[in-house]
Amino acid sequence: MTQTRAYDTRYPAVADLKDRARKRLPKFAFDYLEAAIDNELGKARNRAALQDVQLIPRYLRDVSTVDTSVDIFDHSYAMPCGVAPVGLGNMMWPGAELALAAAAQKANVPYVLSSFSTTPMEDIVNTAPTVSWFQLYVPRRRQHMQQLIKRVQEAGFRTLVVTVDVPIGAKRNRELKNGLKLPLSPSTSLLWQCMTHPNWALRSLLAGWPDFVNIQDYRDDPKQQLADFISSFAMAGVTAQRLQEIRGLWQGPLVIKGLQHVDDMAQAIDIGVDGIVVSNHGGRQLDAAVASALSLQNATSALSAEVTWMLDGGIRSGLDVVRALALGAKMTFSGRSFFYGVGALGAKGADQVMAIFADEIARTLGQLGCVNAAAMGRDYIASTP
Ligand code: GLV
Repeated sequence: MTQTRAYDTRYPAVADLKDRARKRLPKFAFDYLEAAIDNELGKARNRAALQDVQLIPRYLRDVSTVDTSVDIFDHSYAMPCGVAPVGLGNMMWPGAELALAAAAQKANVPYVLSSFSTTPMEDIVNTAPTVSWFQLYVPRRRQHMQQLIKRVQEAGFRTLVVTVDVPIGAKRNRELKNGLKLPLSPSTSLLWQCMTHPNWALRSLLAGWPDFVNIQDYRDDPKQQLADFISSFAMAGVTAQRLQEIRGLWQGPLVIKGLQHVDDMAQAIDIGVDGIVVSNHGGRQLDAAVASALSLQNATSALSAEVTWMLDGGIRSGLDVVRALALGAKMTFSGRSFFYGVGALGAKGADQVMAIFADEIARTLGQLGCVNAAAMGRDYIASTP
């Protein structure tokens, strides 16, 4: 196992990058990333459930070579941790989406582009041709859905990820208090935040204010504000019938993201999805939502079907990734960790987070006596959430 740390040791953990990002970003941008719903308990529960997973190391084994790679669908990824879809990525840091896509390609991990992203999807695939996945908010109008899926396929995305856990727009109090809307309106508070964060402000001014460039054609009214646009664009509840139609339209691997009930998962598997990202949307939709680690544990205990289990929610370290693997995941995703990285250090922060995860995953597996990420599983668990 390599002992070289290819990262800036002033920020050896994701938590260090978060502290720096909080200082470097204007409040409304950091809050958008950080925000969950209501009292933000669902988000905290994701962390707590992962932290409760205790593992039993095995010794008396040679761990001089640790293989962190995992095979998912048609590709071998270098480690089981990819970039989760995050809307308005370039608002957190100008160029963040391309920087993360480039870092994901270099690190050979999945990069999932959000429907509410702010970089043309074709540019993302050019930057990350072998690791780009597209996250779909299902358009309410069938014709828009068909057009969007066609464009995603033609752009060359490998995998389609259908989000189902936003049946209704969320009321996020931090966002409301900050008056977050597009186009951004110049309030006194916003001007003050820009003046006090000149690096961010200057770069944003040069790059141009981010907009939903991949779905702008579906905007009825160009002046529509953020929440109204999302509600008018996306389906109020993705039905099983729509999922079936999407299965018919998409030839590649199809992933469903956000399921929490075992019966819903069984239904999605019947429809023919290839993968399930167990998730509660980072605690951003329902404060009482079950922790994703607990949902995953319930799902992998109850369902034996051949489906690729994945998890997001609360992943902040290589140890968290390995905990999720022990619960049955083959791949994990983090949104906030990667955006803390670019918020803290700009484009090189994307590589920094990749390097932190790579180092921590390999060390954790070695510490546990498991020389192969694909072999991590329940045998290593002492207690579960
Ligand atoms: C969008 O998906 C969000 O959670 O803000």
